[in-house]
Amino acid sequence: MQIDIITCLPSLIESPFSHSILKRAQDKDLVKVHIHDLRDYATKKHRQVDDYAYGGGAGMVLMIEPIARCIEHLKSHRQYDEVIYMSPDGTLLNQNLANGLSLLKNMIILCGHYKGIDERVREHFVTREISIGNYVLSGGELAAAVLADTVIRLLPGVLSDETSALSDSFQDDLIAPPVYTRPADFQGFKVPDVLLSGHEANIDTWRHEQSLLRTQQRRPELLE
Ligand code: ADE
Repeated sequence: MQIDIITCLPSLIESPFSHSILKRAQDKDLVKVHIHDLRDYATKKHRQVDDYAYGGGAGMVLMIEPIARCIEHLKSHRQYDEVIYMSPDGTLLNQNLANGLSLLKNMIILCGHYKGIDERVREHFVTREISIGNYVLSGGELAAAVLADTVIRLLPGVLSDETSALSDSFQDDLIAPPVYTRPADFQGFKVPDVLLSGHEANIDTWRHEQSLLRTQQRRPELLE
């Protein structure tokens, strides 16, 4: 899989890809992540990528020209399954959507900023809009990092034990069961006996029951 992220603030999004699981996934060549500085595709002086909104109003709007140039440049090298625009107006991201996106080969993720992007980009270049929640961020960068993280960790080989992505919360519309590590007794706070029993079937049953219970208590709408 290749993920190309277009942003006018590259430094804002570099860090999540430089550590831990996302870095190892790239080191193992399981995914390529390229971050593109929109200002490198500016067509005006001073690497300008935004301008005032027609009709007035506060806030700058990202211009179509640099975005179109960048997307066309990328498309001249490979085909993309999706051009995703991160936006609070988009489809709400959930595990099901992430699972589907993890099957794609190449995707572009476009980060908005300021007041938004010229509507013509959305009409003519963007194939899908995704929101990470019903709240507004200052820009699409953090949202793009969230999306890329949730997709990359699903790629085969990224997690050392492949089943661990399958046992994530939400994979079966259930919340994950509680987990514990040593010590078995911390000042009287004890780990449930069943987890110390070594009896795999009982442990599986207990975990499933805990998942159901937690989902009922915390996220009952997932069971509907
Ligand atoms: N950009 C600003 N807010 C956002 C959100 N909630 N989801 C995705 N992109 C965004």
